[in-house]
Amino acid sequence: MKVSNAILGAAIGALLAGSAMADTIKVGIIGPFSGPFALQGKNFQAGVEAYMALNGKSVKGHDIEVIYRDLPAANPAQSRALAQELVVKEKVQYLGGVYFTPDAMAITPLLKQANTPLVIFNAATSAIMTQSPLVVRTSFTTAQTTSPLGKIATERGVKKVISAVSDYGPGVDAEAAFKKAFEAAGGQVVEAIRMPLNTTDFSPIMQRVRDSGAEAVFAFLPSGPTTLGFVKAYNETGLKQAGIKFFAPGDLTQESDLPALGDGAVGLLTTFHYAVSHDSPENKKFVEAATKAVGGADQLSFPSVGAYDGMHVIYKMIEATDGKQDAQKAVDAVKGLAWTSPRGPVSIDAETRHITENIYLREVVKGPDGKTTNKEIQTFPNQKDPGLATQ
Ligand code: PHB
Repeated sequence: MKVSNAILGAAIGALLAGSAMADTIKVGIIGPFSGPFALQGKNFQAGVEAYMALNGKSVKGHDIEVIYRDLPAANPAQSRALAQELVVKEKVQYLGGVYFTPDAMAITPLLKQANTPLVIFNAATSAIMTQSPLVVRTSFTTAQTTSPLGKIATERGVKKVISAVSDYGPGVDAEAAFKKAFEAAGGQVVEAIRMPLNTTDFSPIMQRVRDSGAEAVFAFLPSGPTTLGFVKAYNETGLKQAGIKFFAPGDLTQESDLPALGDGAVGLLTTFHYAVSHDSPENKKFVEAATKAVGGADQLSFPSVGAYDGMHVIYKMIEATDGKQDAQKAVDAVKGLAWTSPRGPVSIDAETRHITENIYLREVVKGPDGKTTNKEIQTFPNQKDPGLATQ
């Protein structure tokens, strides 16, 4: 009798331990899932779903539940409200996503009290990382993607450039990083245009580019209808035909825009951390899973890889804390974490918590099937974010 009681006690104990382990960890993802930037948000979702399809939906016995919240445009007040609702009402242990810089800036003051890490899948202004020790970023910064372009431009015989950027964080960072790198390589930025974020008519900008006498234009705008409009204007107002060259980070030739840009995009040179065409076994697996999740080959773009790697970081945080809510411990656990991403080798810089990654020079080329792609033609390995130093 005594023995069977002991056995029963042990069995109940094991059951309780088992049920305590089968908890659910909630992850709140904020992104543009409707409106003009919906395809960018859809790519967040595709990256998350691809990661979970390939790596399972639980970590160390903790089930993972993802809760999405729609933030269609840059709107700091709404961003803060959504983050608060996710933390307080939904009791998420992790926040992720965030497409636009002002939305990320609005969330960082909440993290400490909420005891919640934020893993940024896109927002690309360098200074975001200085706002809270609980932020980790798996995307890129515009300073990081842009810096190699200074030398690339002078190597192609360009001495005078006009820059045109969206007038907010990532644009200002891109303008500064390009100027620094280009002038260090012997070039000169003859004029710097800052465009309001809501600019849709780019023909006056193209006129200023033409009038400036520059040999090339350097540009940054946030990917979406904005970039499509800008590159179309460059093609259609005759700048390209006039021999004015074009240099930009890859936001301006995202793969999902290439069909709409058609042959006009062929030859465009951009620098970026990820091309859908990246040739590696990890990317092949990723593209297959993410294409299924996004619902079409022409829809896949870079926010999907930021999200995929962001989920990798969140899974590692859950593993390190064994499901307990301890934001600082979770963040500390991924400092220095290194892995092979679909984009190539990456690691989380222990000091800045921003991703170190290869930046690739790519050229838009047309394949035998008539499809245009970003083809990687040069690699700048293991680039950290130089952004805070350029300010
Ligand atoms: C940003 O707001 O930080 C941002 C958005 C879209 C991009 C790059 C940066 O393509």
